[in-house]
Amino acid sequence: MSEKKFETIAVRTQINTTEQNEHSSPLYLTSSFMFDNAEEMRAAFADETEANIYSRFSNPNVQEFANKLALLEGAEACFATASGMAAITASFLTFLKTGDHLLSCSSIFGSTHTVITKYFPKWGIEHSYFDINKPEEIEKHIRKNTKMIFVETPSNPGLDIIDLELMGKIAAKHKVLLNVDNCFATPYLQQPIKYGADIVTHSATKFIDGQGRVLGGAVAGKKELIKEVYLFCRSTGAALSPFNAWVLSKSLETLAVRMDRHCENALKLAQWLEKHAAVEAVKYPFLLSHMQNAIAKKQMRAGGGVVSFTLKGGLNAGRKFLDAVKMCSLTANLGDTRTIVSHPASTTHAKLTEDERMAVGISPGLVRISAGLEHIDDIIADVEQALNC
Ligand SMILES: Cc1ncc(COP(=O)(O)O)c(C=O)c1O
Repeated sequence: MSEKKFETIAVRTQINTTEQNEHSSPLYLTSSFMFDNAEEMRAAFADETEANIYSRFSNPNVQEFANKLALLEGAEACFATASGMAAITASFLTFLKTGDHLLSCSSIFGSTHTVITKYFPKWGIEHSYFDINKPEEIEKHIRKNTKMIFVETPSNPGLDIIDLELMGKIAAKHKVLLNVDNCFATPYLQQPIKYGADIVTHSATKFIDGQGRVLGGAVAGKKELIKEVYLFCRSTGAALSPFNAWVLSKSLETLAVRMDRHCENALKLAQWLEKHAAVEAVKYPFLLSHMQNAIAKKQMRAGGGVVSFTLKGGLNAGRKFLDAVKMCSLTANLGDTRTIVSHPASTTHAKLTEDERMAVGISPGLVRISAGLEHIDDIIADVEQALNC
C-alpha cells in the first residue's frame, strides 16, 4: 500500500477524467473502443499497448474499481468480475486442472460449496475439507497434488475465524496457493495478503457496494497470477459491467465510514442478544465468547457487520422470528445500509444435508443478522419485539 491512509486512497485514487474535468468519474457505457488505424488496432490486439479493445476485456470504469481495490488490499493487481461467484470460480478454474486437489475450510458460502462438490468431480478436480476448529490437523489433509488452500474468514454464516498467519505459513511451506474469500471483512477490516495470501476473492455485492444495488466481484493478488485470471475471464466472459464498476468505485469511497458503523452496531446487537433469554448462543468475532476471538482481534480491525445467533426453539423459532420482524428486511443479501435477517438452513444453505449444515455450525435455529446503518436503538427494538412475539 502507498503511504497514504486507507480512507484517502479509497477517496482519491485514479479517477477517470476527460477534457470536461469531471470531479466524479464519467461512465464509459460502451461495448467496444475505436482505433484510428489498422496498425493501432493490431498493436492493441497484440498486447503491445494498453488500449481498451472490448469491455469484456477491459473498460476504464472497471479498471478504476479494480485498481482502487488492489491498492486497498495491498495487492499488486486486481481483476473485477460480474459477481462474487464469478470471482471465486475464476480463481479456481484459472489455477486448478484435472488431477489437482483443493483443500478448503468446511465453513464456506453455500454456492462455493456447490461449485466444489457438484462441479469439481465433473472436471476431475479433487477436494477435501478441513475443520477450522482443528488447525493442528490442517497439514495432514495436504496431498501431493494439492494446488490451492481456500478459506473464508469470517465465514458465512457461521462467523468462524481462520488464523491467516498460520494459513500463510502452511501454504508457503507446502508451496500451494492460498486463496482467501475476504467478502465479510473487506480490506478495511483485514488484508489477507499481509499474512501470505496469494489470491484474495471478493463478492463486491456485499459491503463493498454496501447499498444493495449491484452485483460485482474481484480477484486480487500478485501481478503474474492476476494476469492469468484476466486471460481466463477475458475468454470465458465473467466481465463486470461498466455501470456496476462505476457504482462500486464510488462505494469504495465510503467503505471505511460505513464499516465503522456496521461493526459498532453489530457488536452492540451481539452484546444485547447474549443477554436475551430466548437466545441459546450468539456468534460474533469480537465477543469474548467467540472461540477464535483472539485470532479475530489479531487479524481484524473490528468484528464485522454480521452477527449470527441460535434460538432456543430451533427451526420453528427461527422462522417465527423472521416472520415477526417489522423493520428488518427479509432478503438474500447482506452488507446493506438496511438491517437484513435471514435463516440459512432454509435458504442459502438449504442444498446442504442436515449433517453437512451441522458440521459447519448451521443449526436449524440459526439466524443471521447483517447489521445495517439504522440507529442501533431501532435495530434492537425491532429484534426485541420479534423475539418477544
Ligand atoms: C462469503 C461470500 N462469498 C461469495 C459470495 C458470492 O457473491 P455473489 O453473490 O456476489 O456472487 C457470497 C454471497 O453471499 C458470500 O457471502
